[in-house]
Amino acid sequence: MERINKVALIGAGFVGSSYAFALMNQNIVDELVIIDLNENKAMGDAMDLNHGQAFAPRPTKISYGTYADCQDADIVCITAGANQKPGETRLDLVSKNIKIFKGIVDDVMGSGFDGIFLIATNPVDILTHAVWKFSGLPKERVIGSGTTLDSSRLRYMLGDYFGVAPHDVQAHMIGEHGDTELPVWSQATIGGVPLAAMMNTDSKYKIEDLDEIYVNVRDAAYHVIEKKGATYYGIAMSLVRVTQAILGDEKAILPVTAHLNGEYGEKDVYIGVPTIVGRGGAQQVLELPLNEKEKEQFQHSAGVLRSIVETAFQ
Ligand code: 2OP
Repeated sequence: MERINKVALIGAGFVGSSYAFALMNQNIVDELVIIDLNENKAMGDAMDLNHGQAFAPRPTKISYGTYADCQDADIVCITAGANQKPGETRLDLVSKNIKIFKGIVDDVMGSGFDGIFLIATNPVDILTHAVWKFSGLPKERVIGSGTTLDSSRLRYMLGDYFGVAPHDVQAHMIGEHGDTELPVWSQATIGGVPLAAMMNTDSKYKIEDLDEIYVNVRDAAYHVIEKKGATYYGIAMSLVRVTQAILGDEKAILPVTAHLNGEYGEKDVYIGVPTIVGRGGAQQVLELPLNEKEKEQFQHSAGVLRSIVETAFQ
């Protein structure tokens, strides 16, 4: 019999529901179980999604369940927890969500789960670190959404600026998924053309525009939250992409939250960096050759995360 791919989703809020909907539409998993404190919401989502099965590319087995259903899941994706209110930073959520996560991870591990954790709740880098500590799983099997969404935002905005598809923009945001993240301009290419060379192709391209794009990427969530109270489609698409890379053993390079152990000169910090993602999880961190300014910005970002982790777990 062919292997069944199973995802257990914890948290049926806006992000979780959008993830479930995108998984079903993109034909990524065989089985999806939705778990939420509010069992009615999980049940309602499962019903609603199942009502669309006849029009999906292929049926996905979708149900609602309990932590016991995590036992044979390949991936447990956590989107549960408090989210940012207008004006709040991601880091404002640390203490609230660490408490919630301790309970969730204990319950998931109590089921006998032995797969890969994929974390989306903010502050995602800190909570990924928390899940690693609470679960006792190897670091490769605890991954956060990291700067996948930020990098997608960057690729979209650069694509728009140069008039090319986001798919043909190779550019990474790295660091904290939050206010200290940075774009790796020095290594960005547009379809293989280095960014600096691309800028020279037309006098209408200006360095100040790149600065503006960076600020818009960094502050994108604030802009969306101000307008509609939350962000969810972008992060859902990012989570689906990571899920697909894991289940398909793709060895895709994605800027997920991964654990550094000497890479980029940093130790014992979970942070967004390009990582080879496959069936084993975060298989290898890719070290981009950063220029001096980027190195400094990255060190600052890692330092901010490390100091929060140090106080959060005392
Ligand atoms: C985002 O970047 C809020 O982290 C969420 O959209």
